[in-house]
Amino acid sequence: MGRLAESRRLPSVMLRLLFPLAGLAAVFRAETIPQRSFEIDYNCDCFVKDGRPFRYISGSIHYSRVPRYYWKDRLLKMKMAGLDAIQTYVPWNYHEPQVDMYDFSGDKDLEYFLQLANDTGLLVILRAGPYICAEWDMGGLPAWLLEKKSIVLRSSDSDYLAAVEKWMGVLLPKMRPHLYQNGGPIIMVQVENEYGSYFACDYDYLRSLLKLFRQYLGDEVVLFTTDGASRFHLKCGALQGLYATVDFAPGGNVTAAFLAQRGSEPTGPLVNSEFYTGWLDHWGHRHSVVPAQTIAKTLNEILARGANVNLYMFIGGTNFAYWNGANMPYMPQPTSYDYDAPLSEAGDLTEKYFALREVIGMYKQLPEGLIPPTTPKFAYGKVCLQKVGTVVEALDRLSPAGPVKSTYPLTFVQLKQYFGFVLYRTTLPKNCTEPTQLSSPLNGVHDRAYVSVDGVPQGVLERDKSLMINITGKAGTNLDILVENMGRVNFGRYNNDFKGLVSNLTLDQDILVEWEIYPLDIDGAVNHDINSHLYRPKRSVGNPLSYEAPTFYTGRLSIPGGIPDLPQDTYVKFPGWTKGQIWINGFNLGRYWPARGPQLTLYVPRNILVSSLPNNITVLELEHSPCSTQACEIEFVDKPNINATTQYENYAPPPLC
Ligand SMILES: *[C@@H]1O[C@H](CO)[C@@H](O)[C@H](O)[C@H]1NC(C)=O
Ligand SMILES: *[C@@H]1O[C@H](CO)[C@@H](O)[C@H](O)[C@H]1NC(C)=O
Ligand SMILES: *[C@@H]1O[C@H](CO)[C@@H](O)[C@H](O)[C@H]1NC(C)=O
Ligand SMILES: *[C@@H]1O[C@H](CO)[C@@H](O)[C@H](O)[C@H]1NC(C)=O
Ligand SMILES: *[C@@H]1O[C@H](CO)[C@@H](O)[C@H](O)[C@H]1NC(C)=O
Ligand SMILES: *[C@@H]1O[C@H](CO)[C@@H](O)[C@H](O)[C@H]1NC(C)=O
Ligand SMILES: *[C@@H]1O[C@H](CO)[C@@H](O)[C@H](O)[C@H]1NC(C)=O
Repeated sequence: MGRLAESRRLPSVMLRLLFPLAGLAAVFRAETIPQRSFEIDYNCDCFVKDGRPFRYISGSIHYSRVPRYYWKDRLLKMKMAGLDAIQTYVPWNYHEPQVDMYDFSGDKDLEYFLQLANDTGLLVILRAGPYICAEWDMGGLPAWLLEKKSIVLRSSDSDYLAAVEKWMGVLLPKMRPHLYQNGGPIIMVQVENEYGSYFACDYDYLRSLLKLFRQYLGDEVVLFTTDGASRFHLKCGALQGLYATVDFAPGGNVTAAFLAQRGSEPTGPLVNSEFYTGWLDHWGHRHSVVPAQTIAKTLNEILARGANVNLYMFIGGTNFAYWNGANMPYMPQPTSYDYDAPLSEAGDLTEKYFALREVIGMYKQLPEGLIPPTTPKFAYGKVCLQKVGTVVEALDRLSPAGPVKSTYPLTFVQLKQYFGFVLYRTTLPKNCTEPTQLSSPLNGVHDRAYVSVDGVPQGVLERDKSLMINITGKAGTNLDILVENMGRVNFGRYNNDFKGLVSNLTLDQDILVEWEIYPLDIDGAVNHDINSHLYRPKRSVGNPLSYEAPTFYTGRLSIPGGIPDLPQDTYVKFPGWTKGQIWINGFNLGRYWPARGPQLTLYVPRNILVSSLPNNITVLELEHSPCSTQACEIEFVDKPNINATTQYENYAPPPLC
């Protein structure tokens, strides 16, 4: 906003008054600038790096969506596209999964990632949060913040701010040595993300963040914000002391978009911090595709104006495990975050990569040398799976501490379990000889519940979609409700996204009570070798709805000998399977849901495979496997399919043959 930018203008106006001769100013600068410096110059409407005007062309890569094993490969491909910089988000919930438990190891080793970027000759634009959106669970905020039920996230709420201060007190000191002026690659640090799109519009919150970032990072580093390219978004997103940048998509009016930035920053560099190379997907919706030509054309317009740009995403990567976010009305994002980006989910060079590289080559010299080739993929073929047992049969192993008893249901956060699955058990208070309505009158199943009575599956309840089913069973038998957290809302005012049964269930009109609630550590059990303890599964009982109780299956994938360079990357597909989760050697690859699409195959990076031993595969199928009617197998193929046209509207549970 003009109001805020006005006072920021003063110093450079004064500079011009003090140094009317440009030459004198230049001499002054040359003598005083340190060897490594990066700053905003309001006279040349540009950034200045080491005393010289500088324009960056950057690309987004989220280290949390690419295995560490492949960081170097992806960074090198980005460098070879002609990029000066990469942009990455820091997901707070990825690094502080439980209060005060910090993890920066392995795939979470942010400092190693920064070092690799520097080694590759790439600068870094760090988007430090605390909120990041990013189609990431809860926009990167840790779910444990919700332990204070009334917390106002992304505001001056004192508990929220205290947690942010503690986290930034861990993160930012680690980042300081990596700042450009300290010898590292980080030229700019983003504060918050698209705050102007959030309802709170709390300038005190942004001021607290500004103070905190300056306290830990010093006065030199360029701090900035990113908002939609409109007055409306910049109104609550921009703040004096934070350089306001905008984001916009290809195909629009570049002049108009940058005019919006000029509303907040009358002078200084033009910056599009998120120039969209593709778009996100949701389960049950068509795969997003944006033509390379559209992006190339607008990129050309942006660069022709001398503007700075970040291509979001340059490589999208994968939402491994449970990390995907969701939008409202509740629509979770799939496991693939391919984004139709210039580098595919698996890091493959695409037509779009070369089209954009060509545009970049019109504005700067492209680096010499070979572009790392697309990594080979291998079709290992079919792997037979065997049924191990149902979740209910394995309850002792999955929930070693046993159930928490409560009159009414508790949420995941109340149980201090933030991801995955929780089993809610009560007994039928009456005979339900006739089909009896089990319902969630307040739409409180977050997000999907697999219901069985005495081991007999009854159906599925789903947030915003299916709030009532009929069940049958005898009084006193177990009513088991396995609730899946399908990813927390990452955008808008619905971030306070509690999971589990967040309101009461009713049977006919009566509220169900006296619950036994089992927190489930499925990932722990898979890692402690669920395979080696075969249960004796009861004979499976089907019902007319064709659902089966949530069941574990295991199998082994042996990498063939005699073929050089194996293991290689692959994709796994699920012919005849419905919905579930898959682990390979204990690594949680993510959710599969071919019955809804559009994603049919999951990316399997080679680094989780071994060739010396058979690889252990665990599948948790939640609804219906092909095992009783067709082949009980999954298949490893060498091509992805994330663009099946499956629409939710066409979706029906597969019939039992
Ligand atoms: C980062 O790279 C630059 C060269 O681009 C080098 O001068 C600097 O020492 C590197 N920093 C680190 C921490 O490796
Ligand atoms: C783009 O926006 C500018 C500024 O609002 C306007 O002057 C121009 O006519 C627009 N161009 C097109 C093609 O709409
Ligand atoms: C349920 O039905 C059985 C007979 O099938 C009967 O013995 C029992 O008393 C009934 N229980 C309740 C709570 O109505
Ligand atoms: C539940 O059963 C009732 C009575 O049999 C029937 O009218 C209703 O359509 C059923 N609802 C569902 C969702 O199956
Ligand atoms: C369930 O209903 C009871 C009684 O009306 C109420 O006290 C309780 O807060 C409700 N629990 C949830 C989780 O909605
Ligand atoms: C697979 O599981 C078996 C035990 O069932 C274990 O001995 C083996 O090491 C596991 N393989 C891998 C690759 O982790
Ligand atoms: C999916 O992508 C493949 C490979 O790019 C393409 O051949 C196919 O036409 C696409 N299918 C749909 C339905 O978009």
